[in-house]
Amino acid sequence: MQERALVRQIIECLKIESEQRNYAEIDPAVLRDFMQLGKKEPAKSANSIGNQAPVRNSVAPAPSPAMAANPSKEVNIVKADTENVPQDKLDVCRMPYEELEKKAAVCTRCRLHKSRTNPVFADGSRKAELMFIGEGPGRDEDAQGIPFVGRAGQLLTKMIEAMQFDRKEVYIANIVKCRPPENRAPMDDEAEQCLPYLLRQIELVQPKIIVLLGAVPLKYILGLAGITKIRGNWKEFKGIKVMPTLHPAYLLRNEAAKKDAWKDLQMVMSVFGKKYRKNS
Ligand code: URA
Repeated sequence: MQERALVRQIIECLKIESEQRNYAEIDPAVLRDFMQLGKKEPAKSANSIGNQAPVRNSVAPAPSPAMAANPSKEVNIVKADTENVPQDKLDVCRMPYEELEKKAAVCTRCRLHKSRTNPVFADGSRKAELMFIGEGPGRDEDAQGIPFVGRAGQLLTKMIEAMQFDRKEVYIANIVKCRPPENRAPMDDEAEQCLPYLLRQIELVQPKIIVLLGAVPLKYILGLAGITKIRGNWKEFKGIKVMPTLHPAYLLRNEAAKKDAWKDLQMVMSVFGKKYRKNS
């Protein structure tokens, strides 16, 4: 009962305020940058881009038979829900930010801790109004302990800039904090063990909008499958507006899909009073 009251309280805190702002102008050069990035193979170098491991398929992670049969329907999979968090995880649900980060740094809840170099907690501002949730760290992220720093990460940064945000003012996290081997998608039990951290991060940051990057966060945050159909449609998670869109790794492989992602991002921008003006 006490837990339910706490959850209700948290949901109240997460209610977004609808505040009107003036439209800001977008620099077309920044948008061009996003649209162009990834078109040419970047020059091989000793840095993270040249050594990037193959990107995982962020659009279609091994669908369950239920999902395959009915791709855009709600499916019975792990869905983030603080009300049903087992007792041993409740401490995480109440933790202050610093403690949460320290706990994640030594977490051994799932098999992924065995092969990680660094846990990847988050990047950006704890006061962010805009949060991006990806899938899980890749090789570069595992090496640096920072989300989205590889090639897909560079594209995400361009997307954020095209939206007229600075990467430092948004918040970026993943469904799992440790790198799945060979860049595979996280397994259900791994995601389930890791989700209480992310839920607490969401509660503490209290973003106005969450952008889900690809099929994996769509699956574990909203319990939905079918990112290509669902993208661009507003959803809600615990009182927060959610915009599912395509994962930057997918966009690197499918240039043509960038225009769809850009449409989704513009919907997010409009909530913040930002609008792209072609002739600015
Ligand atoms: N892909 C993700 O989903 N997350 C990262 O942090 C990097 C690549």
